Amino acid sequence: MTRPRILINFAITADGKTSTRSKDPAHFTSKLDLHRLLEIRKQADAILVGRGTLEADAMSMTIPAELKPARQPLRCIVSRSGTFDLSHKVFNSQGGTVHLLVTDPPADYNPLPYESAGAVVHQCPLPDFLHRLRTEYNIATLLCEGGGSLVRALAEIDAIDEANLTWAAHTIFGGSEAPTITGALGPHFPTTLHFALTHFEPLDNGECFLTYERLRASTKP
Ligand SMILES: NC(=O)c1ccc[n+]([C@@H]2O[C@H](COP(=O)([O-])OP(=O)(O)OC[C@H]3O[C@@H](n4cnc5c(N)ncnc54)[C@H](OP(=O)(O)O)[C@@H]3O)[C@@H](O)[C@H]2O)c1
Repeated sequence: MTRPRILINFAITADGKTSTRSKDPAHFTSKLDLHRLLEIRKQADAILVGRGTLEADAMSMTIPAELKPARQPLRCIVSRSGTFDLSHKVFNSQGGTVHLLVTDPPADYNPLPYESAGAVVHQCPLPDFLHRLRTEYNIATLLCEGGGSLVRALAEIDAIDEANLTWAAHTIFGGSEAPTITGALGPHFPTTLHFALTHFEPLDNGECFLTYERLRASTKP
């Protein structure tokens, strides 16, 4: 499949959780972690999130002007049903063009309100959207910032090339329903995905920045 190179970024607790069972905003890491996320955003031509993360974290999906970004990445939001809150800040802030992916629209789905707000609405499966981003919008690097259910869908089609993790081992959430980077505990993947450590940066504050590169048959040593 022709698609962008796909990066993910997550903060995880000592027990591998990315949020609490009630999916509260994920503010359990340091300012350094936020700064690192913004630096990773600068590498991306587009950012991708699920509707749940957009709303839970009240994201504008932009890079602050003081970081002098070369450009603002496209802002891509995924939903099955395609119902978005037009009063959300992503529709009311300066930034990259908003692209809405609706994978399972109802028969009478009306994209017009979102298009009138300046968004581009795509009604297709996730793999087709990834292909379109690469071939029609020239997106070479896509950063997926979660949440877990969206990353699970990417993992199921083996579409994760780099994983950036802040291991925040100073915190434990617990609970079988608290999500991991691939969402709540669920069925096994079609196959196990292997990654190689490419960056290891322990910090004085009890966190550790880690980067892993997907090991595919062609890249295995
Ligand atoms: N620790 C971290 O670094 C981190 C990072 C990101 C998020 N989080 C946390 O994770 C929690 C949200 O997790 P989540 O798993 O609920 O979020 P999510 O994946 O962002 O959102 C779930 C929603 O996104 C849409 N969606 C997800 N996967 C889809 C797919 N394959 N196809 C079509 N639509 C899809 C659906 O929207 P519709 O309901 O509209 O159909 C779904 O209900 C929040 O608490 C957030 O703070 C933490």
